[in-house]
Amino acid sequence: MQSICLLLGLFADAISASPLGQQPLGHISPTELPAGQLAEGLRKPVRGRFLHITDFHPDRLYKPGTSIDRSCHRGDGPAGYFGAEGTECDAPLSLANETFRWIEENLKDEIDFVIWTGDSARHDNDEKHPRTADEIMELNAFLSQKWISIFGEEEVRGTSNVVPKMSIPVIPTFGNNDMMPHNIFNEGPNKWTKRFAEIWNQFIPEDQRHTFVEGGWFTAEVVPGRLAIISLNTMYFFDSNSAVDGCNAKSEPGYEHMEWLRVQLKILRSRNMKAILMGHVPPARSSEKKNWDETCWQKYTLWMHQYRDVVVGSFYGHMNIDHFMLQDSNKVNIDSKAHGKVSINSKADYLESLRNQWSSLPSPPPGIFEELDSISNLGDLSSEVEPVKKDKRGKKKEKKKQKFLDKIGGPWAERYSVSLVSPSLVPNFFPSLRVIDYNITGLDDVARRVDLFTHAVDDTASGLDAEIDTPETSDDSLIPPEIQKKKKDKDKKKKPKFKVPEPPSSTAPPGPAYSNQAFTLLGYTQYYSNLTKLHEQIAAGEQGDNPRIDYEIEYTTNDDVYQMKDLTVRSFFQLAARIGEEGAEEKQSDVNSQDADWSSNKKKKPVNGIWRAFLRRAFVGFPVDDLDDLDE
Ligand SMILES: *[C@@H]1O[C@H](CO)[C@@H](O)[C@H](O)[C@H]1NC(C)=O
Ligand SMILES: *[C@@H]1O[C@H](CO)[C@@H](O)[C@H](O)[C@H]1NC(C)=O
Ligand SMILES: *[C@@H]1O[C@H](CO)[C@@H](O)[C@H](O)[C@H]1NC(C)=O
Repeated sequence: MQSICLLLGLFADAISASPLGQQPLGHISPTELPAGQLAEGLRKPVRGRFLHITDFHPDRLYKPGTSIDRSCHRGDGPAGYFGAEGTECDAPLSLANETFRWIEENLKDEIDFVIWTGDSARHDNDEKHPRTADEIMELNAFLSQKWISIFGEEEVRGTSNVVPKMSIPVIPTFGNNDMMPHNIFNEGPNKWTKRFAEIWNQFIPEDQRHTFVEGGWFTAEVVPGRLAIISLNTMYFFDSNSAVDGCNAKSEPGYEHMEWLRVQLKILRSRNMKAILMGHVPPARSSEKKNWDETCWQKYTLWMHQYRDVVVGSFYGHMNIDHFMLQDSNKVNIDSKAHGKVSINSKADYLESLRNQWSSLPSPPPGIFEELDSISNLGDLSSEVEPVKKDKRGKKKEKKKQKFLDKIGGPWAERYSVSLVSPSLVPNFFPSLRVIDYNITGLDDVARRVDLFTHAVDDTASGLDAEIDTPETSDDSLIPPEIQKKKKDKDKKKKPKFKVPEPPSSTAPPGPAYSNQAFTLLGYTQYYSNLTKLHEQIAAGEQGDNPRIDYEIEYTTNDDVYQMKDLTVRSFFQLAARIGEEGAEEKQSDVNSQDADWSSNKKKKPVNGIWRAFLRRAFVGFPVDDLDDLDE
């Protein structure tokens, strides 16, 4: 313990001395008491489960019975009590209230922390009622207060000192609609980072406040000494934020953010810790949709690859559709035509473009995954598939397998990383939330939260500044080709303009995103509420004076359709490959008209049931026939 604290102290100093003003890892509600003095009762074992919820979009102007063409603010129309499901209307407060009640009654004692990925204010979509900055902050404060009402506690320190704190960490980030004008976010510190720092006072670890005000990003250590959440400010990566320009120029906040992320991951590696990343805008990048500036995507994908021993997974919102994406560390140059907002139709186009990407994934030889699974079940972490047969045919088979493994970055598919996108609470389809399970092997005596010990952040120690400022590696093979090309054009010996992170040590076992171990994501349960059904019940007088929302299970990742034994990158690779199957023939088809009819089999070609399930789940089970009627 002492050496860890010392190390952290050294790093802390090195970092705060850097021009970026970076701070080390954050601690939820640090305590002045040394470890031993905390009451036993405060130790809470990890449960291996957390909540991801996103895009609430609460709207105080929402009125049931109004027109969906008038933002559900006025006129006569079908806007329902808990929201206008399947429309672009924002959410009534009743939906937020009932969702928090449901969380309190069903999840409160089940989860270790909450990932809350932004867009916590209404859209600026009513010219009769333009938003104000105060309204945005008030709505954010309203939701923050709800979290505090569920998870807030008071801690008595010493004789009379009562300190408010959270029983579990809630980790926020802001979305592109949590500012004015929406999408536009300047370099920090700015009025938004300052105001959010106040509203999220209970959520941002004390020693991260300065960092947050500077850049809108922070780190929270949610399992002491083991797991940290890194809250990214994706506004600096977001292509639609015209106030900034990507991640390559040193003057850009995106550059600074990537540097900060690199240092955080480096510190976590040195402490043998793992990280979950979260943000609002996901790194979507396909022929139909590009969310991030290309320079940011490249760095992110490179960072994810180099720190593949540290990063457990990453969670995003913003797109309101349930899906995932694979970042391919071998790819940087694809033509991307799309910018800006996607319409409903192009949401389907976007999903199809993902499928097209996935249908060109290296195609797995039959039985390879079963074989790999049986090897990892035996606990053999070595990276070779055992050669079994010696005859010619067997050898050929082995060669094919090896070739496939070489293509995907070895038996753990380390060429790829995964980003998960949760669908929204605002009922663009049905309101939805996600509970993720993770592996807690060997964490029996580890407690949640960081009230067990404090790291003394020693501001006087020094010595690592120089180390942190030197380029970490010159391994050209891992530098994106585009940058490599530039290098070659200039000077073969010249280093890239930015620091390329060191890869995992050659003896390091694969990280939790790749092989099942402590903190590996095991699966998730997607919950939704069928508002159509609920509104029918309300209309029939079956819900009484206080209608209630009940979230039910939409699907789980280990069900008969997805069949994911865990959420490792290889499992996502398998799922993506299965969704991509038969893609070549079907990709011309119109998703809305043909694939919308889930049950029938109009096509002559064999139906890819997984692709259909993926689409249905993308829209949270909302009937997609109605998608044609929507305009975003
Ligand atoms: C939601 O809860 C707040 C208190 O947090 C309350 O003031 C408000 O009236 C509730 N609104 C609805 C529509 O239930
Ligand atoms: C968690 O990881 C360990 C390996 O460290 C493995 O033996 C165990 O089966 C995993 N647990 C689950 C539920 O997958
Ligand atoms: C939601 O409820 C409606 C009305 O009861 C029903 O027709 C529909 O099938 C339900 N949808 C799902 C996904 O359960």
